[in-house]
Amino acid sequence: MENNLNKIICCIGAGYVGGPTMSVIAMNCPDCEVNVVDLNAERINAWNNKDLSKLPVFEPGLEKIIKKCRGKNLFFSTKIEENIAKADIIFISVNTPTKKNGVGAGYASDLKWIESSARQIAKFSKNHTIVIEKSTLPVKTAETIKTILTSSEQNNISAIDHKGQTFSIISNPEFLAEGSAINDLQNPDRVLIGGDDDDSINLISDIYKSWVNPEKIITTNLWSSELSKLVANAFLAQRISSINSISALCEATGANINEVAKAIGTDSRIGRKFLKSGPGFGGSCFKKDILNLVYLCRYYGLNEVADYWEQVVDINTWQQKRISSLVIRNLFGTLSNKKLAIFGFSFKANTNDTRESPSINISKNLLQEGAKLNFYDPKVCEKDILIEFNEKIYRNNVLVSDSALKAAQGADAILVLTEWEEFVDLDWKHIFEVMRKPAWVFDSRNCLDKQRLKDIGFKIWTLGTT
Ligand code: UDX
Ligand code: UDX
Repeated sequence: MENNLNKIICCIGAGYVGGPTMSVIAMNCPDCEVNVVDLNAERINAWNNKDLSKLPVFEPGLEKIIKKCRGKNLFFSTKIEENIAKADIIFISVNTPTKKNGVGAGYASDLKWIESSARQIAKFSKNHTIVIEKSTLPVKTAETIKTILTSSEQNNISAIDHKGQTFSIISNPEFLAEGSAINDLQNPDRVLIGGDDDDSINLISDIYKSWVNPEKIITTNLWSSELSKLVANAFLAQRISSINSISALCEATGANINEVAKAIGTDSRIGRKFLKSGPGFGGSCFKKDILNLVYLCRYYGLNEVADYWEQVVDINTWQQKRISSLVIRNLFGTLSNKKLAIFGFSFKANTNDTRESPSINISKNLLQEGAKLNFYDPKVCEKDILIEFNEKIYRNNVLVSDSALKAAQGADAILVLTEWEEFVDLDWKHIFEVMRKPAWVFDSRNCLDKQRLKDIGFKIWTLGTT
């Protein structure tokens, strides 16, 4: 459908969500001007880099869209005030990490960036502005945003340069998964738009209708939309913890987790997706969103519900500890002075994102046992690996290599923690030759050819099998 919307869109936050989402909107709505702003100048410079391989976010298909739209109707800038002022629609896509201190520490989201974004919008916007929550947020955050914006409306009634400032708040959560973001955005299962102002909901629906089948657009009230995002992530994470809990039982009983996953997944009520056992879920969303849900339940006195969901996170942590422990057990109960190669540092394949990656916790467990680690990841740069091991106890025992072979040089074991496709076709024979014997491979993603490695001479452990 041809789009004649002619709207000016601003997105605050040029991260993993804001960048790809706005690129896809710009591509599909050539009549809209899309300005992505961020207070991080380094990030904006990277988005504006001529060399497209240097974009701050690696996503298959993203470079092509940037090449097509950047400088035409898609702009990346640090000029926050100016772009807020001219926008008809503002997406808030800033990060909302779990609070480290104070009320709700360890569970609740820190909304300071949301609050400061709302205050900036209140200060600089003009006329009628639709403000869209894109970041995943605790239920009722829209209320906070509303309060900040409406107090400014009142404040500005008498302000000469802010005549007629009005707002509508919409919740439009993002369901993209990293690594497949462009495809998820281009072909979403659904688009969720929550709000109480029909005109604004219709306008945002029209933007999405430029490329999404109208039947896939679901409209709800604000609170259902906010809650649905948390619940979707909680259900997805719950499946991973469920299959991971069964992986341990498979190892104990001689069953095979892949066979079990296949057998249960063919039941159409269960479905095949999200049944891949591994070292536990990572990423910026799952843990944070479940902890938010837990906090919300406790706040409303629903302690049993809170405990139920918290177990999903507990099993995830347990799976990581379990993997670390069995590596230690198989390497004769001690790692002191042993070299281990860690293959994979991103939280899953096809992304350079390391947030909450299982590699971080598992590596720290091994370092605490005295191991020396040498990392290799095809997309994560050295700086982003080393930053996780800044503490003195780790610093001298961590190296990063630019190839799998170099990381494995002299190692006693290799741990595969991310399922990068290139790991399957490595020259495993050569790798075996450069390692100390007995040479172990621990495949926590169940992605390698076990028999082939055994034939080469490796000792091999794969998750959920015997
Ligand atoms: C995500 C999602 O928006 C949220 O739903 C998820 O729960 C975690 O964060 P993401 O794009 O993955 O966002 O985060 P990130 O890559 O950290 O990007 C956020 C960007 O916002 C950063 O570049 C940061 O500099 C920017 N920012 C933050 C601002 O521009 N202004 C602020 O006030 C705060
Ligand atoms: C997730 C949601 O899928 C997405 O809808 C939401 O918007 C943001 O959070 P993301 O974190 O990017 O997306 O990746 P996802 O593919 O869901 O994977 C999350 C973690 O679960 C990864 O560490 C992945 O390795 C793990 N995972 C996923 C499994 O261990 N097994 C599976 O079967 C699927």
